[in-house]
Amino acid sequence: MYKPNDITYPLISWYKSNKRDLPWRYDFNHKNSPYKILVSEFMLQQTTVTTVLNYYDRFIRRWPSISDLSNATEDEILEMWSGLGYYSRGINLLKTAKIIKRDFSNKIPKTIDELKILPGIGDYISSAIVSIAFNLPSKAVDTNIQRVITRYFQLDFTNTAKNRNWVQDIVELLTSHASPREVIQGLMDLGSALCTSKLPKCEHCPLKSGCTSYKNGKFEFALVKRKKIIPQRYGHVYLVERSDGAYLLDKRPENGPLAKTYQFPTTEWTDKKLKSDYFKKNKNMNIIGTFNHKFSHFSLELKVIRIKNLPADLSNIIVTENAIWRKPNQLQKLGLSSLMRKASKYIEV
Ligand code: ADE
Repeated sequence: MYKPNDITYPLISWYKSNKRDLPWRYDFNHKNSPYKILVSEFMLQQTTVTTVLNYYDRFIRRWPSISDLSNATEDEILEMWSGLGYYSRGINLLKTAKIIKRDFSNKIPKTIDELKILPGIGDYISSAIVSIAFNLPSKAVDTNIQRVITRYFQLDFTNTAKNRNWVQDIVELLTSHASPREVIQGLMDLGSALCTSKLPKCEHCPLKSGCTSYKNGKFEFALVKRKKIIPQRYGHVYLVERSDGAYLLDKRPENGPLAKTYQFPTTEWTDKKLKSDYFKKNKNMNIIGTFNHKFSHFSLELKVIRIKNLPADLSNIIVTENAIWRKPNQLQKLGLSSLMRKASKYIEV
């Protein structure tokens, strides 16, 4: 039987001298620290630390506290989030800030139950906030932590749900025995630096003496990800130019991919290529290129069509009451998604 200290002692000692220097980890004693953890955890969902580092400081400079953030508009958040992907995270973060202002006097709640009622906060983020921001025990398990613990105990990793429950219970025990903040971040950093999915650097690992996978020489496995078959979708994107050089943009619907972000008008994205003969006959319209974009659940190929002086019969460009016209130099302010930034590259300036 293992003792939690067999893991937490060497882990925390390794963490103290090897921890990553990340901006949301500065000064946990400051009263604003929970806000920084909240923002970082929203950004880090589905996104690497390296990418988040390009956004985090700017975000905190613009909205240094939960009360500043609660006064922001959705469009301002989307502008800041532009390129980070999964835009609903930004929209949920704003909703969460408004609720924390209204119902919790601008203080980030400390319990899992209170946190989980907030938009965008589920099992993982609530646990991460409880442990990292407030130094309380939790079941915070991200993929790095899951891999480290699965290997240490050589747990069955083929049953994903069971594996998750085991790992969560172990993490809860470990964080009840030693500083939760250091245990959680230590496991994350160990997974990122040494216990990597490919070629783990076991010789340098502070936990190797107790690690079952290491003992059995079976540390080569990673948590198996089933190979996803990513469907291919197709569509058109229209760069509609007005005589003054402004372009037509519209807001995407409330739900679905890139919800509520601005876009150049697009057709629906379907699994069949759309006909584009119509555009070849009209001298005000040109097919000027095709580009691809990968989402997590599908790949998209968009044909770019430039249209000057929008003809009345182009009824398939459906725009909503949110449609706006913007000159190329004003596009940056709109917080375009990476997909639409690719489309905007086709604009001649
Ligand atoms: N991934 C998710 N949360 C994280 C954190 N707090 N530090 C590093 N990587 C993370």
